[in-house]
Amino acid sequence: MSSENKKLDTRPLCLSGKGVTKVFGTGNKANVAVDHVDFEFHEGEFVSIVGESGSGKTTLSKMLLGLLNVTEGQIDFQGKPRDISSRSKKNEYWKGIQAIFQDPFSSFNVFHKIDAVLLDCIAMRGGRNLPKEEKIRLMTEACSFVNLKYAELTNKYPFELSGGQMQRLMIARIFLLKPKILLADEPTSMIDACSRATILDMLLQLRDEVGMTVIFITHDIGLAYYISDSVYIMEHGKFVERGTADDVILRPQAEYTKRLINDVPKIYEAWDLSTVG
Ligand SMILES: Nc1ncnc2c1ncn2[C@@H]1O[C@H](COP(=O)(O)OP(=O)(O)OP(=O)(O)O)[C@@H](O)[C@H]1O
Ligand SMILES: [Mg+2]
Repeated sequence: MSSENKKLDTRPLCLSGKGVTKVFGTGNKANVAVDHVDFEFHEGEFVSIVGESGSGKTTLSKMLLGLLNVTEGQIDFQGKPRDISSRSKKNEYWKGIQAIFQDPFSSFNVFHKIDAVLLDCIAMRGGRNLPKEEKIRLMTEACSFVNLKYAELTNKYPFELSGGQMQRLMIARIFLLKPKILLADEPTSMIDACSRATILDMLLQLRDEVGMTVIFITHDIGLAYYISDSVYIMEHGKFVERGTADDVILRPQAEYTKRLINDVPKIYEAWDLSTVG
């Protein structure tokens, strides 16, 4: 993985930040949720941001998405200072960065049928005037990428789907939009382990086939090790450690990283009988 990562380091920067900070509230009520973080995400890189609840992961992702103002610091998109100062510039930026959220139910307009959701994505990519058959072909292709059947979905509303189907529909949107960057705030409670593995597989496939940069937010350092090129460890709003997945997890330097690793249950130890008797 590290030799692979050296190659990644030479690729162009997709998203980077210097001193990025978010303070909620003022005076003695001020809460520094994200505290001067620096990061460099490259094209096609699979990055995980790992930290406990409340460490600032979602706050950082909202700033990356331009949904929350940055209190201090600078974010560069494709090597240039990001400009999202107007509505139209924000819309342009969102062609390049998209997200899948923890709660898929919050991500769809419940009054829009699934066809409308997918047609919107085609329109965003400039396909508003494509012939109807071509639009249906694109929607069918996107649904089959995530193992959904387009014919069974037409005329349905998002709330008529299960949690797992909804997650897959979100990935079908990403497949149509093909953003440069996909940010996934890990769904922790919505789906079972099997659907979670399928979704991760789809994210890796998007990275490989479309060359997307994936920023994956999780509590699970073991999972981060298996899927990432690089890992950033977040504690109380700061990155306490960052590097290749191998360096951070096999050779951790920070006490906090060591603690996260020690907290991973080691199932195999229960079966180690070599010390018995
Ligand atoms: N809109 C807000 N207003 C005020 N404080 C907020 C707001 N959003 C988050 N915070 C605070 O910022 C800190 C970081 O929260 P954040 O949601 O980023 O954590 P997280 O790492 O995503 O946690 P989790 O793993 O539980 O999702 C917390 O102390 C939280 O209370
Ligand atoms: Mg969160």
